[in-house]
Amino acid sequence: MTSDDSGAEPHSIWGDESAIVQLAVDWSAQRVVRHTDPLSTARSAAELSRAAGATVTAEGIGGKAALRVFNEVLEPATRSQDDPYNLAYIPSAPTRAAVVFDFVTSAANIFGGMWEAGAGAIYAENEALAWIVGLLGWPETAGGCFVSGGTSGNLSALMTARETAKGQRGGRPVSGWQVACTSNAHSSIHSAAKALDAEIVDVPIDARGHLTGRALREVLHSHPDVFAVVASAGTTNEGLIDDLADVASVCREFGVWLHVDGAYGGAGLAAPSVRSLFAGIELADSFIVDPHKWLFAPYDCCALLYREPELARAVHAQHASYLDHVDRESWNPSELAIHLSRRARGLPFWFSLATHGTDKYRRAVELSLATARTVADAIRDSSHLRLMCEPELSIVLFDRPGWSDGQYEAWSKEQAANGVILCVPTWWHGQTVLRLAFVNPATDAARVIEILDTLR
Ligand SMILES: Cc1ncc(COP(=O)(O)O)c(C=O)c1O
Repeated sequence: MTSDDSGAEPHSIWGDESAIVQLAVDWSAQRVVRHTDPLSTARSAAELSRAAGATVTAEGIGGKAALRVFNEVLEPATRSQDDPYNLAYIPSAPTRAAVVFDFVTSAANIFGGMWEAGAGAIYAENEALAWIVGLLGWPETAGGCFVSGGTSGNLSALMTARETAKGQRGGRPVSGWQVACTSNAHSSIHSAAKALDAEIVDVPIDARGHLTGRALREVLHSHPDVFAVVASAGTTNEGLIDDLADVASVCREFGVWLHVDGAYGGAGLAAPSVRSLFAGIELADSFIVDPHKWLFAPYDCCALLYREPELARAVHAQHASYLDHVDRESWNPSELAIHLSRRARGLPFWFSLATHGTDKYRRAVELSLATARTVADAIRDSSHLRLMCEPELSIVLFDRPGWSDGQYEAWSKEQAANGVILCVPTWWHGQTVLRLAFVNPATDAARVIEILDTLR
């Protein structure tokens, strides 16, 4: 096969793709710098079908036409996760450096599963992971890999915990394995338990919603088949951090694996103003944080870390005749989670860290925390709103006394339809409340406070 100067390969089955490469690069470049559109929203499949027409055909519609459909119909039917006033669920506000490097990562088409194929990329990913290991206060021998999201990170960590317990305790308990966590643990822990055929044991929360060492000790006394405790470093609904120091010491007392889910809140490790809330995390056995949530990386990116990576390797390394020659001495991310092929999805995060530096990351996380505190102060001082609990991280829960569920719903929908703010109701201690999740340093607290005035 020959290539002309543009890099196109005219004799390949795909023909000359250089024009579409340029169009896609141009589109990406303008999207990265464009102001987001908070009005973009979902449409029904029927509407999309009418607007887009048939796109997958025997002859193909051509790259130019396909890109036009994407630009005019499909992308506008997706939510701008990076809009500064998208404060629903957990949004995502990647740096431009991170976004553009996602494109570079795809262009480089790296197999990131094995060192022999992806050494340079895996080296860079490990540099980014080492920064997190340092924030955790774990030994330098700790390590892990990037997986697609918190759900697969939690599952991979708990699978390592269960297999380690199986080895230590001489097999599966007669009545099956158990995982202990509170009702505030993320839904993905329930999914992981299902996948592992384990039962969830509920540990009662304290008055503010935390997992405490005292409650955990009682549960572990009566549940010898618990193989792992899952603590939250930032619950999704309210951003609470469990009593990690006490929980860790109880786990050590009972010889039970401690997994800390910091998918959202783990970013707070970088912020000196809240670092003390994470005390005890240095004793955990495994940890996850999603850089696509609050560490300014694009989807899909979860950092999965083990204090002793060799335990994960013993569980996750796949063996097959065609894999037998693989160098098992090198750092192979595919041996550390439930995956084999993987893109080097940690590279955009690494590039952003390398570009901006960890000091700027610290400042960016602090900015979201400051925004949350300013908005919480305004709610506390207002005559028409009520703060539900003091924010520990960057999630603010509040209500508008006297309002019905229908009124919350109507207000939320109207704000979204007008492209003002995305703020959706949630459920807290048996009542409907509103929730704001701040992860975007570009969100202006004063503007949010102004918008909340419309709740009068
Ligand atoms: C605390 C927590 N854990 C796990 C997850 C699951 O992460 P992902 O959506 O990346 O699978 C989330 C998602 O919001 C979360 O907030």
